[in-house]
Amino acid sequence: MTYDTVRETDPAVADALEGERARQNDTLAMIASENHVSEAVMEAQSSELTNKYAEGYPGERYYGGCEYADDVEELAIERAQELWGADHVNVQPHSGSQANMGVYLAVLDPGDKILSLDLTHGGHLSHGHPANFAGQVYEVEQYEVDAETGYIDYEGLADHAEEFDPDIIVSGYSAYPREVDFERIQETADAADAYHLADIAHITGLVAAGVHESPVGVADFVTGSTHKTIRAGRGGIIMCEEEYADDVDAAVFPGSQGGPLMHNVAGKAVGFGEALDPEFEAYAEQTVANAKALGDRLQEHGLDLVSDGTDNHLVLVDLRPSHPDTTGKAVEEALEDAGIVLNANTVPGETRSAFNPSGIRAGTPALTTRGFDEDACREVADLIYDVVDAPGDEDVVAKVGDRVDELTDEYTLYE
Ligand SMILES: Cc1ncc(COP(=O)(O)O)c(C=O)c1O
Repeated sequence: MTYDTVRETDPAVADALEGERARQNDTLAMIASENHVSEAVMEAQSSELTNKYAEGYPGERYYGGCEYADDVEELAIERAQELWGADHVNVQPHSGSQANMGVYLAVLDPGDKILSLDLTHGGHLSHGHPANFAGQVYEVEQYEVDAETGYIDYEGLADHAEEFDPDIIVSGYSAYPREVDFERIQETADAADAYHLADIAHITGLVAAGVHESPVGVADFVTGSTHKTIRAGRGGIIMCEEEYADDVDAAVFPGSQGGPLMHNVAGKAVGFGEALDPEFEAYAEQTVANAKALGDRLQEHGLDLVSDGTDNHLVLVDLRPSHPDTTGKAVEEALEDAGIVLNANTVPGETRSAFNPSGIRAGTPALTTRGFDEDACREVADLIYDVVDAPGDEDVVAKVGDRVDELTDEYTLYE
């Protein structure tokens, strides 16, 4: 893909686009929510469908000329149904947050009660943080992970639900390294006569590939991102049983969105098609194996992993036990200088702030897309550790940066 046409008309934007491609090629993307889509997905996303208004749903649009918009949306829906086994799928949410908004709007009234995981314990803003609409429109209480084990405190959640009497319980998380027991949370939701929304934003691809338990057919609603562990371009998705289909669709359009981003829906269709290829299962398995290898090696260096390991695509490192004076932000910045891009993250029992937390979160979806295996991830863990141990040492950062240059040359990405 070239930006020659953009360059002719708008060199400033072309510089930024080429800069970003070079940045992705030349660094290791370890933000757990990021991945690299195929050229085919990017081509679909930059198609003429960006020009098309298609308010409504396939076969029932408010505008003419929607035959090809219908084609791509139907393909995206059919493929999603095949991937996740869902009865009903809405592929129009512009993002994971909007998918969650769609579910809330479908079944909650303002003032209704949400019970969700605390943000500093791995939850997400759209699960009811005061800075997000969900925290402003609904009454929210939050459950936590067990302070000792780092696993969801399922018993505490059940007690909390009995006490709080929520209208909806949200499971699925942003920074939780362990398998989620959706069935157990469903039992709690049933006992509380509450809906259950399983937000699988992070593990959408792992669930599709069968390497994480699926909440589809268990929870009332399942939302997801289409750009994290699955490579279908930025966006969101909602899955539910047929009985909620009309309410969910109405909550997305006209409830909270206007015309769908049909070029992104086309990207989703292409990315879902790629994920139906048997190779995708191997990719998802490798992503998890890589995260385990990364985590094991970080532990061998003496770093503390929240929950003592990982079952999925990410590890969460609590820096406090091994490096009490080092903040996640300092490590994030030093690693970025070395070409390893991950993020500082709060950890359960956080004693600093969300802006300068005590942990780092590292994911393997993007490295796995580049072809990294367990050995390569163990080496990346060594590089991360070198910087964690000496974030202010420019020589160490430069040496790690040199090795990152070699690795990014070896594991090529975009032409
Ligand atoms: C659990 C969870 N839900 C929702 C989202 C929101 O996704 P988006 O950024 O597409 O709105 C995220 C993003 O990381 C997430 O981790």
